[in-house]
Amino acid sequence: MSREFEDLQRILVLFFTLFSLIYNSNGKFIPEGSAAFSSSGFTVLTNTSKHSYGQAFNNPSVSIKNSSFNINFFFGIVPEHNHQGSNGMAFVFSPTRGLPGASSDQYLGIFNETNNGKTSNHVIAIELDIHKDEEFGDIDDNHVGININGMRSVASASAGYYDDEDGKFHNLSLISRKVMRLSIVYSQPDKQLNVTLSPAEFSVPPRKSLLSLNQDLSIFGFTASTGSIGALHYMLNMLIAPGVDYPSLELIAVPILPPYPKKLHDTTRKILWVCLTLAVIAAFVASWIGFVFYWRHKKVKEVIEEWEIQYGPHRFAYKELFNATKGFKEKQLLGRGGFGQVYRGTLPGSDAEIAVKRTSHDSRQGMSEFLAEISTIGRLRHPNLVRLLGYCRHKEHLYLVYDFMPNGSLDRYLYRCNTDESQEGLTWEQRFKIIKDVASALLYLHQEWVQIIIHRDIKPANVLLDHEMNARLGDFGLAKLYDQGFDPQTTRIAGTFGYIAPEFLRIGRATTSTDVYAFGLLMLEVVCGRRLIERRVPEKEQVLVDWILELWEEGGDLLDAVEQSIRQEQNRGQLELVLKLGLLCSHHAEMVRPAMSSVMRILNGDSQLPDNLLEVVRDEKLRGWPEISTEVLVDVDSLVVL
Ligand SMILES: *[C@@H]1O[C@H](CO)[C@@H](O)[C@H](O)[C@H]1NC(C)=O
Ligand SMILES: *[C@@H]1O[C@H](CO)[C@@H](O)[C@H](O)[C@H]1NC(C)=O
Ligand SMILES: *[C@@H]1O[C@H](CO)[C@@H](O)[C@H](O)[C@H]1NC(C)=O
Repeated sequence: MSREFEDLQRILVLFFTLFSLIYNSNGKFIPEGSAAFSSSGFTVLTNTSKHSYGQAFNNPSVSIKNSSFNINFFFGIVPEHNHQGSNGMAFVFSPTRGLPGASSDQYLGIFNETNNGKTSNHVIAIELDIHKDEEFGDIDDNHVGININGMRSVASASAGYYDDEDGKFHNLSLISRKVMRLSIVYSQPDKQLNVTLSPAEFSVPPRKSLLSLNQDLSIFGFTASTGSIGALHYMLNMLIAPGVDYPSLELIAVPILPPYPKKLHDTTRKILWVCLTLAVIAAFVASWIGFVFYWRHKKVKEVIEEWEIQYGPHRFAYKELFNATKGFKEKQLLGRGGFGQVYRGTLPGSDAEIAVKRTSHDSRQGMSEFLAEISTIGRLRHPNLVRLLGYCRHKEHLYLVYDFMPNGSLDRYLYRCNTDESQEGLTWEQRFKIIKDVASALLYLHQEWVQIIIHRDIKPANVLLDHEMNARLGDFGLAKLYDQGFDPQTTRIAGTFGYIAPEFLRIGRATTSTDVYAFGLLMLEVVCGRRLIERRVPEKEQVLVDWILELWEEGGDLLDAVEQSIRQEQNRGQLELVLKLGLLCSHHAEMVRPAMSSVMRILNGDSQLPDNLLEVVRDEKLRGWPEISTEVLVDVDSLVVL
């Protein structure tokens, strides 16, 4: 920690006079993104747009000298919904006026997926966080945290203050719509930063601070962001003064923040009242009918579970998705698979591009498992996983909303000789990066997340490429959905033929090791630029795994199997490594396959492949296709292959 701060100090522009100024929003801060100055003199960092962020950094930049100082400001958060926050806001010390490419949602308009956690950021943020992000180890959805260079807090505490009289802790709700005061004091001799939160009515903040950190600091500004739920983040007057004594600040009247804007006008409101009255009558009748129906048919199924409201990912309105995809037009169709169709769309009110997967469900059973699954998946965050933004149920369809990946799926690049000639090929560097990206996503799912998550359907079609050609794993959990609850009458196995590990076919139980199996095959495909099984090649080359193994056993050149365009001597070391590792991972015996952490270490060159590798992988008895005793649910795009 202290090293980062020595770096930070070096880039500070040091001012040699002490200063004391009152920042009155206008003129002193430059708004960026959705930030704006309101007529009532507040700085509003976000507007009602979803997934947006706003920043206001001071101008001209006034660096804080290498001395003690204190900063006090008032702020307030007006959420769209009473009991659910959006993402929150932050007070930021930064060497520049914001970092380039800030992201919304959990990144609070400060960082993004790529620079999060990098020591080169030189940023300290005091976050007023109203969303519990498990990926950053957040303690709750109402806390104050001190973050250095990334979203993971080095110190955090639930929002509240310690009473001066009795020392008791009092809770404060950040989303209460009330104006509150945040006081930051920095004592230079002790290199200590203290943060205190208090109600705006207190003229002096409580003596005992909420958080305390020994650090050194820089220039400042505010940021805030929204996610799928909106909130307005207000920043009021701020005072910076030298020394460690908090000034007494008395607001003449504590401002009351305006309510979250509703889209309705007065006339529409009247119409709405009439409609509402009618709707109430209609609802009454309908519920009576429903009640009767319920007793007749005993169809007991609660649609929205309690947890769904509290913790679940965003539930989109069908209309929102309908509009976003222009009514699920054929033109918006991105692809089609065994599990449904995928449409491209743009969320109204923001430029966020999304991919909407539509899948049908015919049975009501399994719904709660499905929703539980969605709630888990919705909380996963990793740069190499496609983010699930939310879902929707409408009639017999389920809709899953993901981030849109502009470069499509990996299979398009790999099998291009069979399909699209114009598609540009991938270089070896790109391919190696893709392999590592997928490995790091799997490592996260298998070993780094609080629960073990098995993907169950690793294949090139489920690896998507973002605008920078980073690979992201998509579609997790879906296979399980088909596997578990949906049709309990049959023992179907979900997955894609060819990528299903033999023991999974025999026992029907997926493990992390069945994912490693499919990942091994994926590595081979990425290196060889072809499908696992090809009919149009000489017979001994038809089954990719067997061909590579044969080349190796007979002392041939493994590079013969590698795609022509990347078959270069300077790549030999890495190519052979990936081919051999691919064979090891896709070994038919479960216990031979390495765990993802070992795979990652081998790919990163931090550890070696086993010496007797050839003997291990050539074990003939363990090779060959096993009997298929259960019905296999095959994804449509893989049918083309076989
Ligand atoms: C919010 O601010 C952004 C950036 O200035 C703007 O593009 C967007 O239209 C605003 N949204 C609303 C609802 O005012
Ligand atoms: C503060 O809030 C938390 C969570 O809502 C609760 O568990 C705790 O008991 C509260 N503490 C006090 C002192 O009210
Ligand atoms: C900061 O907090 C610590 C621990 O609560 C306290 O000992 C110290 O005096 C505080 N410093 C200032 C300048 O308020």
